[in-house]
Amino acid sequence: MANVVIAGMQWGDEGKGKIVDLICPAFDAVVRFQGGHNAGHTVKFGDSHFALRLIPSGILHEGMRCVLGNGMVIAPDAFLEELGELRDAGVDGDDRLFISDRATVLLPVHAALDQAREKARGADAIGTTSRGIGPAYESKVSRYGLRMADLGAPDLEERLEGLLAVIRPQLADLGADLDADECDLAWLADKCRGWAEELAPMIADTSGMLHGLRREGADVLFEGAQGALLDIDHGTFPYVTSSNSTVGGAAAGAGVPPQSIDGGIGILKAYTTRVGAGPFVTELEGDTGEHLRRRGNEFGTVTGRPRRCGWLDLVAGRYTQRLNGVDGFALTKLDVMDELEEVKVCTAYRIGGEERRDFPADRAEQEAAEPVYKTVPGWQADTVGTLHFDDLPQAAKDYVEMIEEELEAPVLIVSTGPRREETILRRDLEAFQRVTGGRL
Ligand code: GDP
Ligand code: IMO
Ligand code: MG
Repeated sequence: MANVVIAGMQWGDEGKGKIVDLICPAFDAVVRFQGGHNAGHTVKFGDSHFALRLIPSGILHEGMRCVLGNGMVIAPDAFLEELGELRDAGVDGDDRLFISDRATVLLPVHAALDQAREKARGADAIGTTSRGIGPAYESKVSRYGLRMADLGAPDLEERLEGLLAVIRPQLADLGADLDADECDLAWLADKCRGWAEELAPMIADTSGMLHGLRREGADVLFEGAQGALLDIDHGTFPYVTSSNSTVGGAAAGAGVPPQSIDGGIGILKAYTTRVGAGPFVTELEGDTGEHLRRRGNEFGTVTGRPRRCGWLDLVAGRYTQRLNGVDGFALTKLDVMDELEEVKVCTAYRIGGEERRDFPADRAEQEAAEPVYKTVPGWQADTVGTLHFDDLPQAAKDYVEMIEEELEAPVLIVSTGPRREETILRRDLEAFQRVTGGRL
């Protein structure tokens, strides 16, 4: 039995979509448990290319059941648009997509508030994806938000009135346009009733459904969005997203008992990227950063923004592994480093003259930290599409092994290109067999 969480170990965009798509044939269902359409999960195989935002990355496998869990914030229009794109590409997901009746509805007015706030913050902006993620989670935590089950409620107008009573004054303070459709009660109620009707066949008690699957002995893959350093509790606050993107978020966000989860796979990019503002100790602002960005095609899947690039940060890695405790890693984008003469990894931070191995909580310390690097030789050989670990150049193997030693967990998968086919599966490792239930 293997019920496994896939989690980003850095600031998102580690390649979670690729790995979920790759390994989900070993599972019977895929569940997203947090986040919304701030996520952008890329899946490529053959000549096909998909960028999934709300729909689990298992959807491209025929018959795979896909669940949008209660911990998500879901914009119905974005969901329907994504579903339409999939249909156009010949993927029919209608009868195997399930949306939790307890998931929070992300409304257009949430996006308007997100954008107005970011604009008002000026140079201090968080650099959100402007989708409305923060305000939607706020509406849940403050208990005035709408859930999927409420979309067609008889007292919908009253609920929306309550919601607008909280948000409209905030928008007014920020100088936003209150005459816009999204602030209008009748327009919003009409939209909600339309969504209620269109989504009704998919809205379900997904926690109950997962309970049933578990009783049948089925295996579930939990697909995290974002990464541990963007986690609302553990990340580089306030430059974070508004949900728990660590492994611990899976149980609450999917509505399953923690003991029903058997393990985790951490997705770790061979270097580091970050989109949006906030501390980034190993950031490279010169030619090497530009090289990684170009070769790694590091531009946001959702917003198209250039991603900030830097060396692998093992201080952050030890911290996020402490939080996630995954059984092993999928190391992605190793091929992007092929041309580098030498490679650096950050093993400690220097803060105020003191060398530290722990990841500080304090924002000022995160910003002041200077990286202490260990330099290792690059492999300067083509690894794109390599399929067997033994076929990697020695220096690349040494790099992988150094990561295993530092983070005290094995690298189970090495990704050597964006496509499903371009991957090394280390089936000979015991932990690989464990997390895939021997099914891959
Ligand atoms: P996610 O949000 O974690 O699913 O990651 P994204 O899809 O946002 O970003 C990862 C990007 O890297 C996508 O463009 C992928 O197609 C690409 N990618 C994933 N793995 C590899 C790899 O091993 N090598 C290369 N060159 N690209 C990869
Ligand atoms: P995936 O799942 C990378 C970042 C934003 C911003 C911060 C807050 O594709 O890895 P939000 O819109 O969530 O309020 O933005 O979080 N962010 C991501 N960065 N990958 C993501 O998702 C992200 N989702 C949010 O850039 O810094
Ligand atoms: Mg992404």
